[in-house]
Amino acid sequence: MSYTAYKLIHIVGILFLFTAAGGVALYAANGGTKEGNVGRVWVSAIHGLSLALIFISGFGLVARLGTGFQPWVWAKVALWLVIGGVALMPLRKQSLGLPYLVLFPLLGAVAAFLALFKPF
Ligand code: HEM
Repeated sequence: MSYTAYKLIHIVGILFLFTAAGGVALYAANGGTKEGNVGRVWVSAIHGLSLALIFISGFGLVARLGTGFQPWVWAKVALWLVIGGVALMPLRKQSLGLPYLVLFPLLGAVAAFLALFKPF
């Protein structure tokens, strides 16, 4: 698969993950719980599939770049773990819902910064 195809998959995965996380954050901020969520199955499917897409296409991009596993790539893998781990946290702690609308995209911005500027 080409570099551009991997990048498209990477971006599509990111769009799905951040849309689901944003929806969940506002739902939780309004008092919504995991059990009462009518989109529960959709949210967990999108959460898992989008993270898999981001991860697999990330490695595809590394292969196509041909630069090997530089430190910024490992930093992105670590960030991927954090982002995946905390994406749905407002469902457990509803007071996190509103802060998430700002903090979660900022985590994504760090991942974007690492890929675009490759600072190390
Ligand atoms: C949720 C986690 C992640 C987010 C939000 C994210 C975000 C991004 C963004 C916004 C871009 C720039 C796309 C563009 O150039 O238009 C990108 C590129 C890239 N990402 Fe990720 N990424 C994530 C995880 C990963 C992981 C886990 C890896 C490695 C296994 C990875 C490797 C790459 C590579 C190699 C590029 C291409 C850099 C280039 O074209 O020079 N990313 N990522």
